[in-house]
Amino acid sequence: MAFKAVLALLTIASAVLAAPSDATADNRAKCGGGRVASHPQCCKWFDVLDDIQKNLFDGGECGEEVHESLRLTFHDAIGFSLSAQREGKFGGGGADGSIMAFSEIETNFHANNGVDDIVDKQRPFAIDHGVSFGDFIQFAGAVGVSNCGGGPRLQFLAGRSNSSKPAPDGTVPEPFDSTDKILARMADAGFTPNEVVDLLASHSVAAQDHVDPSVHGSPFDSTPSDFDAQFFVETLLKGELFPGNGSNQGESQSPLPGEFRLQSDFELARDPRTACEWQSFVTDHNSMNRKFEAAMAKLAVLGHDPRSLIDCSEVIPQPKRAKSNVAVLPAGKHRSDIQASCRQTPFPALKTAPGPETSVAPVPPS
Ligand code: HEM
Ligand SMILES: *[C@@H]1O[C@H](CO)[C@@H](O)[C@H](O)[C@H]1NC(C)=O
Ligand SMILES: *[C@@H]1O[C@H](CO)[C@@H](O)[C@H](O)[C@H]1NC(C)=O
Repeated sequence: MAFKAVLALLTIASAVLAAPSDATADNRAKCGGGRVASHPQCCKWFDVLDDIQKNLFDGGECGEEVHESLRLTFHDAIGFSLSAQREGKFGGGGADGSIMAFSEIETNFHANNGVDDIVDKQRPFAIDHGVSFGDFIQFAGAVGVSNCGGGPRLQFLAGRSNSSKPAPDGTVPEPFDSTDKILARMADAGFTPNEVVDLLASHSVAAQDHVDPSVHGSPFDSTPSDFDAQFFVETLLKGELFPGNGSNQGESQSPLPGEFRLQSDFELARDPRTACEWQSFVTDHNSMNRKFEAAMAKLAVLGHDPRSLIDCSEVIPQPKRAKSNVAVLPAGKHRSDIQASCRQTPFPALKTAPGPETSVAPVPPS
């Protein structure tokens, strides 16, 4: 068996050597379209990239499909439990594509409300390109968030198996869960409280549809197409209003017309276990991105041995710059509106955006 494997490797190696037309001088694989990859298995991902940028993400935008695709990376991967594993039970296979393979089961879980849309949009792309559902979900999230101004460049490892079992219900945190419950669930998947905050940089490019359906698409910060630190500032502002028709389960008052605040974001921003990490991103976009990349690299391989996967990160586009790298207080807000919650470090001085009070409420049709 081992001998056969060595023989097979030698055969491949000599085939590569004997066929210089398939490889560039530095042994990188030629992929077509003039692109090269470090591993021949990465080539097909360039085709997936072109297809989804054009036909799923509206030509490379950071819009609704990108936001939903990023959310989906989490809802698939977090179906994973260290405690279940220790007890010899099945707690979910992690980033295994089960949410797509068994969508009729998993998208009916309460916490997955709304993800059926993006699962149904993504599935045909995965099938057309013959890639596993687990790979596709993580790839689409990584490509998608690279479209957001100031976005991170996520690692992408390929080669997840296409076979999975449905994750059990209860692995995905709810916005009305207590901070204790959320941190415990995330710890059970291997994440520290700081890493939970790091992952929540994702809510910088996010909106809600289902916590209050009367304000479909209401964003969590004033710049939902930029992967910036506004989310970490605005969640610390004093809550003043409900953008929709009142308090819903999992909703807190938000500071700006049209903006939506999840109760979980409100509490994590203020909890002594997470408040300092939260505040640290307000003046450090670079750290926010690096830590998000690191936490996402962990999330994307839950349930897998990363050494058995192939690094195709080179296929992920270089993100565009953000309109601004410096977070501000929204127009009309003052330092006194900030509910500073990190005991060790004073809240940093920020400029206030000029102009009339910031609003993200949709302009009513005239
Ligand atoms: C830690 C606990 C978390 C809770 C309680 C939570 C909860 C929520 C809720 C309730 C929504 C609104 C869904 C809707 O009504 O349409 C949402 C949206 C979103 N979440 Fe989270 N989330 C959490 C963590 C994460 C993580 C770790 C990621 C990604 C790495 C993520 C990415 C997103 C994105 C991108 C959206 C926007 C979806 C869209 O605009 O369509 N969330 N989240
Ligand atoms: C993955 O499994 C699904 C069924 O869950 C199937 O439709 C799809 O064609 C499979 N893809 C690959 C690459 O095997
Ligand atoms: C909120 O909106 C829903 C429909 O989206 C409606 O059924 C409900 O009566 C409204 N509640 C209030 C307090 O306006």
